[in-house]
Amino acid sequence: MEAFDLYSPEIDANPFPYYEILREQYPCYWSESGKLWILSRYDDIVQATRDWETFSSSQGNMIDELPGRAGATLGTTDPPRHDRLRALSQAAFARKNIEQFIAPTLDIADRALERICERRAFEFINDFSSQITVGVLFRTMGLPERDHAEIRRKVILPVSTDKSVKGRNPEHIAAFKELSDFLTAEVAVRRANATDDLITHLAEAEIDGDRLSEREVVLTTATFVMAGVESLSSFMSMLALNLHDHPDARRRIVANPELIEPAIEESLRFNTSAQRFKRTVMRATELHGQRMRDGDKVALAFGSGNRDWRKFPNPDVYDIARRPQGHLGFGAGKHFCLGSQMARLVTAIAMKRFLERVPEYHLEVDEIAWNSSSNFRSPSALPFAMP
Ligand code: HEM
Repeated sequence: MEAFDLYSPEIDANPFPYYEILREQYPCYWSESGKLWILSRYDDIVQATRDWETFSSSQGNMIDELPGRAGATLGTTDPPRHDRLRALSQAAFARKNIEQFIAPTLDIADRALERICERRAFEFINDFSSQITVGVLFRTMGLPERDHAEIRRKVILPVSTDKSVKGRNPEHIAAFKELSDFLTAEVAVRRANATDDLITHLAEAEIDGDRLSEREVVLTTATFVMAGVESLSSFMSMLALNLHDHPDARRRIVANPELIEPAIEESLRFNTSAQRFKRTVMRATELHGQRMRDGDKVALAFGSGNRDWRKFPNPDVYDIARRPQGHLGFGAGKHFCLGSQMARLVTAIAMKRFLERVPEYHLEVDEIAWNSSSNFRSPSALPFAMP
């Protein structure tokens, strides 16, 4: 077996021992299965995120990219186009005061927790984390509640990878097309009739007379929906799992809820849902004796950089007192996650509330099944029960 087969279910289940082999023996590794280089050391990854002229995002940042995204979204452009899209998107986001996420998060969390406490056995993702991320984000965007479940389906497929199919599963491409068509119609409605929501704010964002085109609004909205719903819900489930696996940390947070914030940072370092993102080499370069040619694809393994002892001592220990400055859970450099502030806030509020009502919980299965995706990693289900 190769040192790191991107499409191996074993690696989905636990990539960390494999990352260690890469970091120590093959820091610039050619993966035959993925047909790309993998950079696994912290410093190399950070350097690559800064050097966009060599490591470009313009050919896509998903390892199995979807048609129509490359070169058209925030995550898939380089400066100066990226600077423009980022400034306009930030202008739209800034109109939503971050505090406005608090009330909907509390409201949805309380309703979900009512049901969970009645039943005492629950599946964390469907019954909690995904309800919150879908509800909060879609409300912010002004998407009608009756469509939420269906939009979530269209989002989940394109961010997952079907490893039984080489390349992209046509079903996922079709779901992304459906999502784009749906959002195109939503944007048209708001162009005709402005409402106070994030899609309208994106359509109206203007800097020095410059505005996003119709297609840019649709694709930026799609990025928010995909990044927001899936990364955030998956991250919350990773945090709940970490606190399950580390009961001492959980009890300390139950006793002192403010500790949820350092626990979030440590979870973003320890096992972020966003494990790897892609770049394309634009000018030949050499690293650790390996020659990367123009056009070669490269995976920046954020999840591995976060376990590099050169940056984080005792990296395989989950320690909520660590306060890991500069972790790569939200990426780094030009493409640092635009939703990081919102993701931290929503997670902190939701998880504090969760632990108030469910201070003790245990897994009802011996083995967790993992979602299979070349960029992301998360459990596909977390069946928990209260004592
Ligand atoms: C805990 C949850 C989240 C995680 C772990 C996460 C992770 C990441 C990472 C690693 C990147 C960098 C991608 C790259 O370098 O190519 C990124 C970019 C991005 N994220 Fe997040 N994200 C999360 C939540 C969100 C939310 C809630 C939103 C929006 C509502 C969002 C919007 C974005 C956008 C727009 C970008 C592209 C930024 C750019 O290219 O300038 N993310 N995210």
